Amino acid sequence: MSEISRVTVIGAGVMGSQIAMLAAQAGCTTTLVDIDENRVDAAVETLRRTMARSVERGRATAEEVGAAFELLSTSTDLSEAASDADIVIEAIIEDLGAKRALFAQLDEIARVDAILATNSSSIVSSRLASVRNPARVCNMHFFNPALVMQLVEVVGGDHASEETVARVVGLAKCMGKTAVVVRREIFGFIANRIVGAVFDEAISLLEAGVATPEEIDTAVTLGLGHPIGPFALLDLTGIDVNVGIKRLEAQETGVTSRGPSRTLLELVEVGHLGKKSGRGFYEYGAR
Ligand SMILES: NC(=O)c1ccc[n+]([C@@H]2O[C@H](COP(=O)([O-])OP(=O)(O)OC[C@H]3O[C@@H](n4cnc5c(N)ncnc54)[C@H](O)[C@@H]3O)[C@@H](O)[C@H]2O)c1
Repeated sequence: MSEISRVTVIGAGVMGSQIAMLAAQAGCTTTLVDIDENRVDAAVETLRRTMARSVERGRATAEEVGAAFELLSTSTDLSEAASDADIVIEAIIEDLGAKRALFAQLDEIARVDAILATNSSSIVSSRLASVRNPARVCNMHFFNPALVMQLVEVVGGDHASEETVARVVGLAKCMGKTAVVVRREIFGFIANRIVGAVFDEAISLLEAGVATPEEIDTAVTLGLGHPIGPFALLDLTGIDVNVGIKRLEAQETGVTSRGPSRTLLELVEVGHLGKKSGRGFYEYGAR
């Protein structure tokens, strides 16, 4: 099994920039690509600040961080950046059409043996596998913030080869992560599916008048040892984002009852989107 040494990450947003940093820290020659030059510049600036803090806190040495930045370059030219990669990790916007168009381009540009992985939170890779050699296509799902969160879910589906899954698991390990292989394609994979079930149950307890958001969050943090309660987490990720996820879940699973709850829809309607709008289940005061 050949080792992965050249990584191309596409999409210099919240996830892609940190995934590229992880790859460079793992010793891979890494290129971070975006269609928008400002995004790649901003990503590198943010990474420099984040990594400087890491050094200050003793989580990495200045030499290690310097060596990683030596291996990291940026580009807005997909052809140049992806033609020689061992793996391309796609982390562009969560839009099936955009991802399919990108995979079609990659099919032309990337080596036929290069792994094509998607970091999508909800799109299973079989939807993107209309390429030569679909055996090299899989999901490689990181968690936010990717530099900190330990888990990577690797999903092969029926099309991906065992070798592809094993190589992606190997890369995740080189990045210092723990990889969990998800053995069937399923909406939400494992972790988001579990947290979704917790959100659903918390909201149904609230709607049944069993307890307040504060009381439910206290029960979950103190009783179950979760670092954050479901309502605080819904506020943090954004109520509108969660409504979007629930709509997609209903559509993808074909189960309409999996759609957004009345409570979430009402909050979005009055503009209470969570922490970012100053109010969701909780009030956050002036921003
Ligand atoms: N944000 C999260 O918490 C999170 C967690 C896990 C997985 N994900 C997944 O990661 C992916 C990226 O999410 P994000 O939050 O980093 O998004 P983001 O909006 O922060 O960044 C997306 C970037 O992709 C770029 N882009 C769009 N189309 C492109 C193209 N065709 N070629 C190159 N670049 C392109 C945009 O300019 C932007 O910089 C999504 O699929 C999302 O589901 C997100």
